[in-house]
Amino acid sequence: MKIQIDHKDFELMIEHEQVKKRLRLIGIQLNVAYERRVPVFVGILNGCFMFMADLMKQVHISSEVCFVKMTSYSGVNRSEQVDELMGLNIDLKGRDVIIVEDIIDSGNTLKKVINSVKKSEPSSLAVCTLLLKPDALQHDFDEIAYVGFEIENQFVVGYGLDYNGLGRNLKDIYKAI
Ligand code: HPA
Ligand code: MG
Repeated sequence: MKIQIDHKDFELMIEHEQVKKRLRLIGIQLNVAYERRVPVFVGILNGCFMFMADLMKQVHISSEVCFVKMTSYSGVNRSEQVDELMGLNIDLKGRDVIIVEDIIDSGNTLKKVINSVKKSEPSSLAVCTLLLKPDALQHDFDEIAYVGFEIENQFVVGYGLDYNGLGRNLKDIYKAI
């Protein structure tokens, strides 16, 4: 099925039913890996909101959930760019942290998020992402433990992911054509 968003054409890539199936399996993995622990799921906004909602329905262990946004601002020294996690209201020190991402593309954002989370000294850190573009990755990560789907280096939209701010509300995932 083809759709248009902001004058750009997209075609269906992953149906919601397929996503739900995959999330049931990831849920099982998480329930086993974090049994008898109380992990903190840290969702990176805006893209993760739909994924996080469906994922957490498959997580049956005791856990906490929070959402953060990565913001960038110029430091006191003008040449200095400071990246900060906004909205983190849980102390991650000594906690088992699972970062939840909609997509890992170049990995630049994830790198900043990981560096920021590590400053809080969690006892463990893992990343759970719905989508991963292996060919676009520009960093090596040891933390990426749960991946919904590996996809080609194509622009995708839907299920939380946007094109020019639009399309986040689509239930299925579409790729640009
Ligand atoms: N789609 C939407 N948002 C994104 C993408 C993409 O393919 N890659 C990084 N952010
Ligand atoms: Mg975006």
